[in-house]
Amino acid sequence: MLFRQLFDKKSSTYTYLLASRRGGEALLVDPVYEQTGRYLKLLEELDLKLVKVMDTHIHADHVSAMGSLRDATRCVTVMGEQSPIDVVSMRVKDGDDVKIEGLTLTALHTPGHTEESYSFLMDDRVFTGDTLLIRGTGRTDFQNGDPYDQYHSLFDRLLKLPDSTIVFPGHDYKGDTSSTIYEEKHFNPRLQVGSAQEYADIMDNLNLANPTLMDVAVPENLRSGIEVDAQRSVPTMDADELLAIWPSDEFQIIDIREEGERHRFGIIPGSVHAPYAQFDQYCSPNGLLSGLGQGRRLILYCAVGERSKLATDIATEKGIDNVAHIPGGFARWVSEGGPVDKL
Ligand SMILES: [Fe+2]
Repeated sequence: MLFRQLFDKKSSTYTYLLASRRGGEALLVDPVYEQTGRYLKLLEELDLKLVKVMDTHIHADHVSAMGSLRDATRCVTVMGEQSPIDVVSMRVKDGDDVKIEGLTLTALHTPGHTEESYSFLMDDRVFTGDTLLIRGTGRTDFQNGDPYDQYHSLFDRLLKLPDSTIVFPGHDYKGDTSSTIYEEKHFNPRLQVGSAQEYADIMDNLNLANPTLMDVAVPENLRSGIEVDAQRSVPTMDADELLAIWPSDEFQIIDIREEGERHRFGIIPGSVHAPYAQFDQYCSPNGLLSGLGQGRRLILYCAVGERSKLATDIATEKGIDNVAHIPGGFARWVSEGGPVDKL
């Protein structure tokens, strides 16, 4: 496995680069906007294709590089389902797997620092964001933080992992790089408490100043998705337009989400599955799209319209001109009352 812990000095943020091999697919956890160029250079040096990028939570102390990396590489942006719907292209819930070639991370909903905080478990290690830090824990006094939620996330989830699990936090201000569940259980001063109430008393009396970048970072991070207006920069077919002529032989609907999303949310009836991860190949001269597109318009959809906007760009670049996508994606289809088939 290829594993890099990258540091942003200004915000003391750790970013993690994961890949199963040189030349393969890569994933970044908690990237920092100012470091975008450095990530892209490293990806190139290691011959990696960035396919997914995710944030453990909405950060208040730095602007995320999710949007800039998506714009540079067309990667999929991932966060927990409690995040606002149009911030990322794919949202996961507790227990879901996030996969790239050769690697699987399991999402653990660990609210408390913020309500949409997630940790991600991968084999012998866990990426804890700001839920569990080395000899500390993330503050709980803004962004719907809650010390009682955090107590349960810590004591009922993270500290129940095997003692040997390596802890990789979202920040460290002293230069420590990793820890273990065993060490934190025994030596983290905030975790030497007998009850949630005792923990909340500690957290409620920290009296910390707001992060200097908070007023910039939070709104910026809430805007990192491709909003529906921007999704209209490529050919579109709105959900209500489609429903007005539904059903029709004049178009073929194509679902580019991942298998797990299709099973969880259902599909638009009659849609063909062509996952975004292989979209380049489907657009080749003898690929799936040219076959399906004989005399018909191809209508792409994903969860919220971000991946399908990028996929429409790819198809257009490959010379396929009868493609459009549904702005707002499956979420818009459902809110317009479109029929859904369960798999
Ligand atoms: Fe944070």
